[in-house]
Amino acid sequence: MLLAILISPIPLTLMGNRGIQITSLVDSAIIADSSFFIRGPTVNMVTNESAMIFWRTEGVTNATVWYGLNESVIEKIENTTLDINHRVPLIGLDIDTRYFYKVSSNNTESQLYHFRTAPADGARFRMIIIGDNRPTLVSYIQPEEFKELSQMIVDEDPHIVVMSGDYVLEVNENHEDNLAGWAAFTNISDSIGHYAPIYGALGNHDTGAKTGTLNLDYYFDAFEQYDEPSTYFSFDYAGVHFIFLDTEQQYLEGRITGDQYNWLVNDLESTDCPMKYVIGHRPMYPLNHLGDSIDSKPDERIRLQQLFEEHNVTAYICGHDHLFNRLTVNGLVHIISGGGGAPLVYTQWGGAYYHYTRVDSSYNHVNISSVKLSGEIGHNYQLPYTGPIEIALRAIWNGSSKQPNTLPEIYFSEIPIEKYYCWDSVANQTELIGLPNANGLHTLDVYAMNSDEVWSHDRFVFTTVGATTTTTQTTASFPLESLVIGGVVVAGVVIVLILVYRRRQP
Ligand SMILES: [Fe+2]
Repeated sequence: MLLAILISPIPLTLMGNRGIQITSLVDSAIIADSSFFIRGPTVNMVTNESAMIFWRTEGVTNATVWYGLNESVIEKIENTTLDINHRVPLIGLDIDTRYFYKVSSNNTESQLYHFRTAPADGARFRMIIIGDNRPTLVSYIQPEEFKELSQMIVDEDPHIVVMSGDYVLEVNENHEDNLAGWAAFTNISDSIGHYAPIYGALGNHDTGAKTGTLNLDYYFDAFEQYDEPSTYFSFDYAGVHFIFLDTEQQYLEGRITGDQYNWLVNDLESTDCPMKYVIGHRPMYPLNHLGDSIDSKPDERIRLQQLFEEHNVTAYICGHDHLFNRLTVNGLVHIISGGGGAPLVYTQWGGAYYHYTRVDSSYNHVNISSVKLSGEIGHNYQLPYTGPIEIALRAIWNGSSKQPNTLPEIYFSEIPIEKYYCWDSVANQTELIGLPNANGLHTLDVYAMNSDEVWSHDRFVFTTVGATTTTTQTTASFPLESLVIGGVVVAGVVIVLILVYRRRQP
């Protein structure tokens, strides 16, 4: 139903979670033809003993939460202060326990919902990741895929939900357009938020950057999360430290630097949690958005990768590329989960399917699966990983044509005990050099040995163009195996001929 926006003469405000007043996005608008509950109720900022129930009503009302261990909810918390935004904390809850709840305002009751408190530190919990659900063309029409995936996410019965950004098409100068766009998103996200806390990273489509001035009020209004109105924040859940980063800082897009980087270092040094997840919108190793992600400043990306390695971060979770990809670099898992509904992008690395990512996580075991709209598992990866070293190529496509000396990006899933690079089956080198300075096909063999002395090998093929020498290299047409096989065949033929010749000798 198309939303009709009416302007209200009554200015209202809502309170940020740190007690800072920010302008309400519904203060000047009442959405006609909607239900009594404009937002929620949703469960937010859940710990192993507390939660915060949020909802928004069409007009100012009182607020009551009913909750309990079964559907006959008998506990009651009342707030008689009249408001349109209601935030009621539940405290003294039992650990790892399902609670049922409903809310009422001015005697109008919501449906009954339920959520689970966090388990003990290190115990298993289910996290769902979804990103890049944004519409394609019309701001207030969310993709059908996002609606379907949201229902599937509810059916997964998650403890916690992480969104990796790009919730709306854009934030522009038209407040009513923006309200409609964000309401279309929260109508769906709240259908998940009834049952599990949602935490969302800021995406480039969510900021209004194209207008020249960031307008983050809509983003803050869509989520009830820690440390608002900061766009980067952290919290602990089940003994796991979660860090949300802002890759959209004005004039610093795609970078984690300055005050935010200093905050990040301090935050990582301050936590006692042995396990950490970091979430941001833009990838560190993009497949599609090359050069406008954290790869835009190679030195800063290396610095961030090393920081995460030093502090045993388990995974960096992001979106921005509209696909699924998992890459492990020196033990740090990178998950791109950007298939929430926006148009898919197709790259050589695959993963172009609508999905969410399910992570069953404990200190002992992490099971990561991308789940397609069909319910099929697109990819599965588990920690601890015990297989041979994975060798991955990024940035340059396998088979692509490049200038001489262009350096392919080769990554190992763990730091090898030994490694070699070999261009055109000629000589093994311990350091990778760029494409040979000779036009034509070239092979790059990469070898890596893990601590169990198991070798991994992968071969990539590139074509050099624009070489400064006149020699044309065609080694890739005759890779090493071919040469060996060819040599064996020739030797065999020679031996047969010799034997035939000898038999014919008198
Ligand atoms: Fe994006």
